[in-house]
Amino acid sequence: MSQLKTILITGANGQLGRCFQALSISNSHYSFLFTDKNSLQITDDDALNLFFKENKIDVCVNCAAYTAVDKAEIERDLAMEVNTNAVGYLAKTCKKYNTQFIHISTDYVFDGSANMPYKPEDKTNPVNFYGQTKLGGELNAIKENCASIIIRTAWVYSEYGNNFVKTMMRLMKDKESIGVVSDQRGAPTYAPDLAEAIMHIINKNNFVAGIYNYSNKGNISWYDFAKEIAAQISTNCIVNPICTAQFPTPAARPAYSILDLQKIEKVFSIETLEWNTSLQKCISKLINS
Ligand SMILES: NC(=O)c1ccc[n+]([C@@H]2O[C@H](COP(=O)([O-])OP(=O)(O)OC[C@H]3O[C@@H](n4cnc5c(N)ncnc54)[C@H](OP(=O)(O)O)[C@@H]3O)[C@@H](O)[C@H]2O)c1
Repeated sequence: MSQLKTILITGANGQLGRCFQALSISNSHYSFLFTDKNSLQITDDDALNLFFKENKIDVCVNCAAYTAVDKAEIERDLAMEVNTNAVGYLAKTCKKYNTQFIHISTDYVFDGSANMPYKPEDKTNPVNFYGQTKLGGELNAIKENCASIIIRTAWVYSEYGNNFVKTMMRLMKDKESIGVVSDQRGAPTYAPDLAEAIMHIINKNNFVAGIYNYSNKGNISWYDFAKEIAAQISTNCIVNPICTAQFPTPAARPAYSILDLQKIEKVFSIETLEWNTSLQKCISKLINS
């Protein structure tokens, strides 16, 4: 009997990682290994080597990251170790053990000064430290393993962990009105959609190395996003537009971070989905849970 292909999901207790845990049920033709901080620190080069030596891994999807964008301005060493250095260790280990490496990056590698969707090859110029560390991770992945697939995504939400949709739903329940930033534009990504897209790439078994963008289809502000959440949950809470200057944060955010999705759609025949349809799926799961 032939061996099942093994997929390692690092950072498996995060939003995207938990989507893979959910997907593993309908993908029983693969064997999944789920690790997180407590079982496999991606910052520990020796531990990675040992883990890959002991387990024959065909594909590694790195969902582990330091994602606290504002805290990263202070916890610089930790953010750099997880998002930049560890990605290099993983990429190198994958190359050594002949494992396909899929790494997740971010729209925050761009400075937001564009006025049309960012293509993967556009000039990067992060405006905050988190973005710098994620860009460092991309460069390390390519340097250590030129077969790496890097997928940049944006505004990730799901029924798991902490994210904008869950925060808005909580605030809308507790408050009569809220202010939401209307001068930053992007497109949300429903994490289960991204996990499905990555499974599609793995299923195709056609690993075309390079940098790709993936998000849901859209061109909206955080305010538009909040308004749609309010409409879908039928709240009485009033959502008011505010500008970035009225909501200062330790880390700057790009004013525009819409990603051009054509490359991933073409190379892997992936159909990207409309942002508000995916939002509906998430909200109905949250309401019924
Ligand atoms: N969330 C977004 O809006 C967004 C936007 C653009 C791109 N992305 C990228 O998308 C990917 C997935 O994001 P996500 O929202 O799923 O992130 P997440 O929920 O924060 O999950 C990241 C996971 O990695 C774990 N982790 C942290 N340090 C680790 C280490 N040294 N070794 C092993 N695991 C470690 C975290 O554990 P702890 O929680 O215990 O630290 C967490 O479980 C990341 O690469 C992120 O940069 C996210």
